[in-house]
Amino acid sequence: MSILLTGGAGYIGSHTAVELLQLNKDVIILDNFSNSSPLVLDRIKEITGKSFKFYELDLLDKKNLEKVFIDNNVDSIIHFAGYKAVGESVDKPLDYYTNNIISTLNLLELMKKYNIKNFVFSSSATVYGNPDKCPINENSPLRATNPYGQTKLMIENILKDISKSDASLNIAILRYFNPVGAHKSGLIGEDPNGIPNNLLPYISQVAVGNLDKLKVFGDDYNTHDGTGVRDYIHVVDLAKGHIKSLDKLNTKCGLVIYNLGTGNGYSVLEMVDAFREASKREISYEIVKRRQGDIAICYADCTKANRELDWQAEYGIKDMCIDSWNWQVNNPKGYK
Ligand code: WQD
Repeated sequence: MSILLTGGAGYIGSHTAVELLQLNKDVIILDNFSNSSPLVLDRIKEITGKSFKFYELDLLDKKNLEKVFIDNNVDSIIHFAGYKAVGESVDKPLDYYTNNIISTLNLLELMKKYNIKNFVFSSSATVYGNPDKCPINENSPLRATNPYGQTKLMIENILKDISKSDASLNIAILRYFNPVGAHKSGLIGEDPNGIPNNLLPYISQVAVGNLDKLKVFGDDYNTHDGTGVRDYIHVVDLAKGHIKSLDKLNTKCGLVIYNLGTGNGYSVLEMVDAFREASKREISYEIVKRRQGDIAICYADCTKANRELDWQAEYGIKDMCIDSWNWQVNNPKGYK
């Protein structure tokens, strides 16, 4: 029985593939390399010593996607594949709705046709929009504020509706906070296309000398040092949360929703300091105006995942920065 990872060559997908393979699970990776590199597949094999099936496929190509289900005995799907850049989604909303929604519908229709019951969905804290208060729990109001977040919310609603229509489905919606860090081997990590949108890869590229200095998007937020506060979670902790979610689905739990974060918030300037400590490099920065759509504070109440999944984030900010830096130093140009 195989576990299908869509987007499995991506940042979170590849780290989850490593954890599954090291548990001797039968893994199938599917990816179109729109935001990942074929080199990741070799790195996964190097880390684990395990083999796995791979399909270079776009989920919009339903005809070829169906062959994966004909040729394999898939019993669970972890759906990572999707466009994920907030700013890009504002500029290209139609690309985001077509890619993220239609590809998921293709997958769900084939899941029904081939009687697959277990589905894990890669959602995001972005579905909470600008929270009334923190920490944010799974019952907090949902109000996505950008097309990327809207696609995540729409898919969550689709999953809730199909779960109501078929009680035999077991679905885990995982709302990631801010994934950072890399596998301790330094062989896989975050490799954004072009100039990084996200904070930590940007800081890391300043530290390694690829970029000049960090632009801190505003220091006038109502936070302890004026800069944005986020719940950064080590990507390996996040990967392990997926393993625990699959275990939960095997208890025939129906639809469940979990925040995957640490419960701790750190500011931009605290992340800069932590990275300086980890890399022993200077990280120069300048304060500029706020980035449109940014919120002041966002961190998780992840007690529900702690309780129901027996899962707890183990790595702190120091490990996140050390492991990010190790990846960056060993791969100054990422996978390129
Ligand atoms: C973090 C903090 C910025 C870059 C988004 C998505 C979320 C997930 C993670 C996909 C904020 C500040 C950042 C920079 C900065 N993506 N910042 N200078 O916006 O919290 O979350 O990415 O799953 O769904 O919403 O992450 O890393 O972009 O920003 O000052 O060059 O760093 O203002 O306070 P964000 P981020």
